[in-house]
Amino acid sequence: MGASLDPWRRSQPWRGLCFGGLVLLGWCCWQSHGVASPDQVKPLITMEQLLWVSGSVIGEVNTFRVPIIAATPRGTLLAFSEARKHSSSDTGAKFIALRRSQDKGATWSPTSFIVDDGSLADGLNLGAVVVDWEKDIVFLVYTLCAHYHQCTTASTMIIRSRDDGVTWSVPRNLSKEIGTTMFAPGPGYGIQKRYEPKKGRLIVCGHGTLTWDGISCLLSDDHGLTWRYGQQPLHGIPYGQAKLPSDFNPDECQPYELPDGSVVINARNQNFYHCSCRIVVRSYDACETLPLENVTFDKTLVDPAVAAGALVKSGLVFFSNPAHEQQRINMTLRWSFTNGSSWWKEPLQIWSGASGYSSMTALDGPAPEDVHSLFIIYEKGRVTSTDSVSVAKISINGKL
Ligand SMILES: *[C@@H]1O[C@H](CO)[C@@H](O)[C@H](O)[C@H]1NC(C)=O
Ligand SMILES: *[C@@H]1O[C@H](CO)[C@@H](O)[C@H](O)[C@H]1NC(C)=O
Ligand SMILES: *[C@@H]1O[C@H](CO)[C@@H](O)[C@H](O)[C@H]1NC(C)=O
Ligand SMILES: *[C@@H]1O[C@H](CO)[C@@H](O)[C@H](O)[C@H]1NC(C)=O
Repeated sequence: MGASLDPWRRSQPWRGLCFGGLVLLGWCCWQSHGVASPDQVKPLITMEQLLWVSGSVIGEVNTFRVPIIAATPRGTLLAFSEARKHSSSDTGAKFIALRRSQDKGATWSPTSFIVDDGSLADGLNLGAVVVDWEKDIVFLVYTLCAHYHQCTTASTMIIRSRDDGVTWSVPRNLSKEIGTTMFAPGPGYGIQKRYEPKKGRLIVCGHGTLTWDGISCLLSDDHGLTWRYGQQPLHGIPYGQAKLPSDFNPDECQPYELPDGSVVINARNQNFYHCSCRIVVRSYDACETLPLENVTFDKTLVDPAVAAGALVKSGLVFFSNPAHEQQRINMTLRWSFTNGSSWWKEPLQIWSGASGYSSMTALDGPAPEDVHSLFIIYEKGRVTSTDSVSVAKISINGKL
């Protein structure tokens, strides 16, 4: 048979290693008490578990970092992280680790290593998970050679699952279509447009290298068959040149869609331009353009320059980050009744200690438990934020 036109060749069933889950704490009980009104929003942690622990105790993996999480149309939770084989460095060889939960976060499958980059000097980096809800497909986008460390060409790679994250395609090299400009997706999730304009479009936003920094988004209007960049990215200033402290350097980012169909991208402010707080850019054309005139700075969202979580759920906007101007400590959840233009005055502290990257998701079912719950996955530690990866289940109305 000749070369297949389908870029999604099926891989052999995954035969990788699995390791027993390490469940340090797992309990969950819940009763629904109807729909919470805005004044009844009292988020509460109802369950928390460590999914991965660094220190060569799980599969001899040195460090687990950069956790991301997604809910699928079948009601499954998929948790991913970088499994850094030999050190905590951003470069080096890695696996992509996956654990699945089919009971709303109560129990998780053993770890599967769904991608193995071998022994690359500048191996894979996560990444963004994006779910096509119309076609029940899960995509995961990641980068190879993001730091040009002993390598010269960066590649944007994508894998796809059509069975709820159980098996995955072989990696497809998107750089053959979009070019080899370094693109680091997320970390976090990509979105599928739920409202016009461009309902159904898949959008994965990310950033470039530290010098050529700035935010751009990958778009697909055919359910992930073809991808292209939006026409107008948000560049750093000065563009294409080494940045100085306080230069405009938008970096790791998380998009979410508001009910008016606009997309807000909440971004890491790498060089603390204007404030030690988050950069926010809003697109009104489904991320075709990220106009400078629609960039704002959210001074409430104090941030030490880190990847943060953002999520629209039950008409509220949620935001998670280590709320501190310099240090990665104090993982905090905030919520907004005003489409993210202001934040409720009393946030919820998730963890006072070391805490780094975070990402959020929520199940989309009609069950009251799904309506009133969200999940935060985050880097958590007693000493440093890279000690472990934890997932917390939040009851939005504060009822168990
Ligand atoms: C991906 O494709 C690009 C463009 O053809 C190529 O330069 C790069 O080496 C490929 N990467 C991998 C990992 O095959
Ligand atoms: C910028 O935002 C305003 C709303 O505040 C909107 O009307 C306008 O179209 C946006 N500009 C662009 C170029 O999208
Ligand atoms: C943690 O975050 C909260 C909410 O922003 C803030 O009030 C508190 O001062 C922070 N604690 C530390 C130690 O930074
Ligand atoms: C949020 O946006 C939606 C859609 O534009 C609008 O109907 C609603 O009034 C907004 N909420 C607030 C509090 O501004």
